[in-house]
Amino acid sequence: LVIVLDFGGQYNQLIARRVREEKVFCEILPYDTSIEKIKKKNPKGIIFTGGPSSVYADKAPACDKEIFELGIPVLGICYGAQLMANILGGFVARPDIREYGKKELHILKESKILKGVGESSICWMSHTDYIKDVPQGFAVTAKTETCPVAAMENEEKRLYAVQFHPEVEHTQFGRQILSNFLYDICGCSGEWTMANFAQEEIQKVKELVGDKKVLCALSGGVDSSVASVLVHKAIGDNLHCIFVDHGLLRKDEGDQVEKIFKERFHMNFIRVNAQERFLNKLKGVSDPETKRKIIGEEFIRVFEEEAQKLEGIDYLLQGTIYPDVIESGTKDAAVIKSHHNVGGLPEDLGFELIEPLRDLFKDEVRAVGEEIGIPKDLVWRQPFPGPGLAIRIMGEITQEKLDILKEADFVFRDEIKKSGLDQEIWQYFAVLPGNRSVGVMGDERTYDYTIGLRAVTSTDGMTSDWARIPHDVLERISTRIVNEVSHVNRIVYDVTSKPPSTIEWE
Ligand code: XMP
Repeated sequence: LVIVLDFGGQYNQLIARRVREEKVFCEILPYDTSIEKIKKKNPKGIIFTGGPSSVYADKAPACDKEIFELGIPVLGICYGAQLMANILGGFVARPDIREYGKKELHILKESKILKGVGESSICWMSHTDYIKDVPQGFAVTAKTETCPVAAMENEEKRLYAVQFHPEVEHTQFGRQILSNFLYDICGCSGEWTMANFAQEEIQKVKELVGDKKVLCALSGGVDSSVASVLVHKAIGDNLHCIFVDHGLLRKDEGDQVEKIFKERFHMNFIRVNAQERFLNKLKGVSDPETKRKIIGEEFIRVFEEEAQKLEGIDYLLQGTIYPDVIESGTKDAAVIKSHHNVGGLPEDLGFELIEPLRDLFKDEVRAVGEEIGIPKDLVWRQPFPGPGLAIRIMGEITQEKLDILKEADFVFRDEIKKSGLDQEIWQYFAVLPGNRSVGVMGDERTYDYTIGLRAVTSTDGMTSDWARIPHDVLERISTRIVNEVSHVNRIVYDVTSKPPSTIEWE
């Protein structure tokens, strides 16, 4: 285990992912984690992340000085480097200008952590403060034109620091530097692979659960699917999956989910057809937040009712993944949308929780999924919001609008797939804004619905750009939807990015 101590930098998760790509398991912990807790975890190395603060700021995040006395190798990155210098008696200076972007890094001295890094190479810088004087016992091992201490170390104490960001792709030898730290300095063995993870987790669940029973809300999304197949491999029929079909899924999706888990994996699978119930609850509702709330609450109610029919359940399986777990600094952020996963159940349902994926990032969850034989289509499926098509229909939801949207969305997805664009586009779907407009078909006047097409590129859904779909593909999609879906006479393409828009329309 390697601990990534989080000082609030924007690349924290990226550092953790890079470490794991080196096949080393790591955990992100907040900077104020107690020294006792750190010692107890017995890490092979500790990495300090960057952060937005200055070491001289009021309430600047800091760590216990004792951390440098544990004999555990430490790598400080950016703010983490400055903090190390400041605590150990070096001097951090505050210039007027920032150093930002790609810079040329010059090696000054041979060093274990810089092994294999060319004498001059490109690194990614993003800082204002810089280390002017290194603490006693430290040597300067690299510089840039404007940064006198781009890297420093105290080899004897196994303390290393870099002002630049090795985790960022632009740093030419970034991976090499991290690998040097993990293998040559910390002595990690590199056994963290998804195949090992799956085997170990199956064994753990087997031992924990024994012949008790586990309940799971299976939505057909990536996380709950991987979690349930994994647990099924451990305990077989003692896993009971409840799939609440709220009728707001994409065309034929409910049947597909049922087929995969029942026929392919032979799981104990209960499908609850609650379409009417949800539609009734949503009748007359057009406010987006109210829709989300109703769906979330109704989901829990339906699930609870079904769960009560089963006897002797001890555990509840949740598809929680690592980004849900990491304490982030966004607690005070404004609520733009009250996201919830269908399957996001309250913790007080009276069962003990099993969360086999809580240490994994999304791409790792997908790799586990492939490892345990879940079809590629499902493992790589695009994100789909818990409230489903309800937030892709503006205004009141009716069966008619749902049917229209499902068909139009199906055509859109079909054409994107056929054109091969599905590999490049993060998310693509149809929306129904609910307005009608005048058209002409044959010689007849029509007064029908508009369909909006939304397709975005993104890496994490936090920001996105609208996808540049070729015009001829858009034309095919438009023609097919108008021809194949009744009551649609106009197609528009959404050309806004996030921000200022969001990916979903509600
Ligand atoms: P927005 O619309 O906020 O969406 O830009 C960002 C990403 O989150 C997905 N999304 C949701 N996912 N429950 C979910 O599980 C939700 O309530 C929800 N709302 C939006 C959206 O599809 C996009 O990938």
